[in-house]
Amino acid sequence: MNPQAGILEPPPSAGRHLTFDLKHAGNIRAALQRLKSAAPPSCVVGVGAPLAKALGASIEGLRSFPSLPGCGLQPPSTQSALWVFVREQSTSECFDTARMLERELIADFALVEEVGTFVYRGGHDLSGYEDGTENPRGADAVAAAIVAAGPLQGSSFAAVQRWLHDLTGFQALSALERDHTIGRALQGNDELPDAPVSAHVKRSAQESYDPPAYMVRRSMPWSEGGEHGLYFLAFGESLDRFERVLTRMIGAEDGVVDGLFGFTRPVTGGYYWCPGQSEGHLNLSPLGL
Ligand code: HEM
Repeated sequence: MNPQAGILEPPPSAGRHLTFDLKHAGNIRAALQRLKSAAPPSCVVGVGAPLAKALGASIEGLRSFPSLPGCGLQPPSTQSALWVFVREQSTSECFDTARMLERELIADFALVEEVGTFVYRGGHDLSGYEDGTENPRGADAVAAAIVAAGPLQGSSFAAVQRWLHDLTGFQALSALERDHTIGRALQGNDELPDAPVSAHVKRSAQESYDPPAYMVRRSMPWSEGGEHGLYFLAFGESLDRFERVLTRMIGAEDGVVDGLFGFTRPVTGGYYWCPGQSEGHLNLSPLGL
């Protein structure tokens, strides 16, 4: 079985994230069959624990986004039933695809959030820093993000968090303080060996975990109604990779909080299982469909 193509491809020119909850008395089996036929192969579809449970299915490794207390920071859990990452060449196509999918689902699922995402300056976060530099690539990306064997072979797990930035506060810092928040130089993107231990890339250095916590990040900026930030998205062959990194970022390991929290914070958090694809369609057989 193949992974959903959008997991291993770089972020698209335009994106749209749709999150759905279960609807009372919704016919979720029929809705998922319609989604299977309608979803373009460019989309990435993820199933949350509440949906698997409602179907009476057990997906090994799938759980709801946890409550992780750390140094007073508590990344929120806003676990939903279903998440769709619409990936297209343009905002117009994203809008049309999202509307089409909503029409297929809306009788049986409740739309909770719909957020458009975009590429900023060729792949930078709105803070100005390049994002995705240390992503594993090729066979390393497959090993990090895709389940290699067993009944879930070809599938993946997504961690999704919408982060809300205070860019005015960040831009009021000196250039050095900003570089030390991230741990990389804005100009040239070089890693800064003398950055403080709180620097984001020091907290998240994938090879510093045991076992290493390589993950495939496909985050994109968002901006709506005067607010903006990063729609963080990471794929892993299990959710543990993301969770170990987030646990360290919030200071729960050693009391050192990631410098990122000085200017941004997560406002949503969800975990989703992303089924594999066969013959161009989602393989929902692990859900009994
Ligand atoms: C607003 C939130 C975030 C921003 C703005 C952000 C930004 C960045 C930037 C600029 C880099 C350096 C370039 C790169 O390698 O991509 C980076 C690296 C990284 N980030 Fe984040 N990040 C955010 C949240 C997160 C979260 C929630 C996680 C996981 C829990 C995470 C995991 C990583 C990892 C694993 C790396 C690569 C570290 C390495 O091995 O060098 N990031 N991030």
